Formats: sequence, C-alpha cells, structure tokens
Amino acid sequence: MVLIEWREEFCTGIPGVDYEHEKLIEQVNSVYALIDDEVDRDRVIDRLGDIYGSISAHFALEEQMMKKYGYDRYQEHRADHERLLDDIRDITDDFENSTDLDRQRFGQRLNDWFAIHFKTHDSRLHKLKNLMSHDQVNETTMKIMIRNAKRTLLRNIGRHS
Ligand SMILES: [Fe+2]
Ligand SMILES: [Fe+2]
Repeated sequence: MVLIEWREEFCTGIPGVDYEHEKLIEQVNSVYALIDDEVDRDRVIDRLGDIYGSISAHFALEEQMMKKYGYDRYQEHRADHERLLDDIRDITDDFENSTDLDRQRFGQRLNDWFAIHFKTHDSRLHKLKNLMSHDQVNETTMKIMIRNAKRTLLRNIGRHS
C-alpha cells in the first residue's frame, strides 16, 4: 500500500518545488514500504538519512527563494522547517531505539510529518508563483548539501555513514 499519494492540495504551481515535493513523497513511500516483519534496520536508517538530507537541501532552497522574493511569511515558514527537521530526527531516533516496531504508527507519523507542512505552508507559496521560479541549483552542490545533512543526522543518532 502506498502511504502518501500526490494530491492537488500539495501543488504550489512552482515547477522546481513541486518536482522536489514529488520526489520526497516517493522517498517517504519507499522507506515505509521497507517496514515489514523482517525489517532491515540499517537500510531503513540509511533511507531516513537520505530523506533528512533531501529535505534539508529542499528547505534551504525554499528559504533562499522566499528571502529573495520578499515572501511575507518567511519567518514562520522557516520556523516550521526547523520543527520538521527536529521531527524527522526524532522519528529516526525512535526507530533506532524501538524494540518492537508498530508499522501503522510509524506510517502515521511519517504521513503527518510530511502532509501538514506541504498542504499549509508550502501550498500557500502558489500565491507567489508568478513572481518566482525555483532557481536552478547545480547538481553537485545539491548532492553535497544532501550528503552533509545526512551525515549530520547519522552522527546525531550515534551512527556513522
Ligand atoms: Fe517544500
Ligand atoms: Fe516549506
């Protein structure tokens, strides 16, 4: 079963942002699909690290864009990003420390984590879609941002990549 389906309410109308959101949904769905009776914990932690990396890079780019175009709710949007990064760290930490895993609860947490910000804070960005475009970012820069953030997360939960 797919955890999160792309919904119209996630749409910002800004192509680069929507593309990254779709990719993030795929990543969240694929980590959820790994949770079964014979779960490979290292693999799940690794994938959660990838998600943390991608989302950190994505947030940094969104914040850069909001700042550049003088977005009116920049501060509160940014604060919600900070909260989300703490949440995914907690989800990863709890997964790492759990003895028996509740698949449904894990899925629910991932779903809430993702969907609420995207359908509130992010979907409001569409108001600015005529003004802004997601600035092109060099692929290497993006990869480095993702890798560094992933390393930070794994270090924080006591693992090394
Ligand atoms: Fe976003
Ligand atoms: Fe956002």
